[in-house]
Amino acid sequence: MVRKKISVVGAGNVGATVAQFVALKELGDVYLFDVVDGVPEGKGLDIMEGNPHWGTDVEVKGFTTTNPEAYKNMENSDVIVITAGLARKPGMSRDDLLNKNVEIMSDVARNVKKYSPNSKVVVVSNPADIMAYAFQKVSGVKPEYIMGLGGSLDSSRFRTFLAMELNVSVEDVNAFVIGGHGDDMVPFIRYSNVSGIPISNLLSKEKIDEIVKRTRFGGGEIVNYLKTGSAYYAPGISITAMVESIIKDKHRVIPCAAYLEGDHARHYGASGIFIGVPINIGANGVEKIYDMDFTSEEKQLWEKTVKGVQENCKKVDDFLKSKN
Ligand code: 2OP
Repeated sequence: MVRKKISVVGAGNVGATVAQFVALKELGDVYLFDVVDGVPEGKGLDIMEGNPHWGTDVEVKGFTTTNPEAYKNMENSDVIVITAGLARKPGMSRDDLLNKNVEIMSDVARNVKKYSPNSKVVVVSNPADIMAYAFQKVSGVKPEYIMGLGGSLDSSRFRTFLAMELNVSVEDVNAFVIGGHGDDMVPFIRYSNVSGIPISNLLSKEKIDEIVKRTRFGGGEIVNYLKTGSAYYAPGISITAMVESIIKDKHRVIPCAAYLEGDHARHYGASGIFIGVPINIGANGVEKIYDMDFTSEEKQLWEKTVKGVQENCKKVDDFLKSKN
């Protein structure tokens, strides 16, 4: 059997952590790309030298992208994870990164278009929903092949905080977060439960509000601790879960930024953007989008997050137009 190939663009903390987790899970060979000379080669080799302890037979190779030939090694990747871009510093929102990261994303997208246009793509660079949009515009990759990180990570944080509060196993907490991967994300309380018991039966409204708020600002909480960058361990495993579901065709249901069109766009009142909704992830990328019903209160929250994403997509359109 030929091993699968997973390319990871950006060998910073998030990219390197994904590379390591993907290698540990033996999902396939990992090709790391970064603009900083020697870093992808060094980190790739470092990860691979640990293989004997894990018993994993995969290659982890790095390529510096200032060499014009480097991206050729991305050819025929099964999955491409894009983490390249600037990360937040304290006081910055994910949206503050927009223009610079669109520029970086455009360069990656042109290379994906050239070398591996049929790959499934996980967009991680922030703001992730908007970068998924920019990536699709520039690469022309089929929208159903593209997923943005957001809900996978935000739901993991939400589940962790609920489990901590309730003193129950995280395994028994089902909870998910939809909407944009920003401060307006929507932790979906009505569908959150512990082994089927609704969380509203277990926690007071005040406590739930507190946990929702902590989830919304979960990324910022880590940025404030680290001071020089943003989170990477929880993002790393949240991305790896998406990659695994594609590689093994697991059909896991995880909220991620997916492209809304047709009936889904009508249902969600948002068309032509990527935004976090529950999706089924398999070998074909986004296998299915689930349409959630909203109460009027949930609808308000949903409309707010949609508006924020739409405004930023418009900024991407303007930015890309100004470059043409
Ligand atoms: C976070 O929420 C990196 O956006 C990511 O930590």
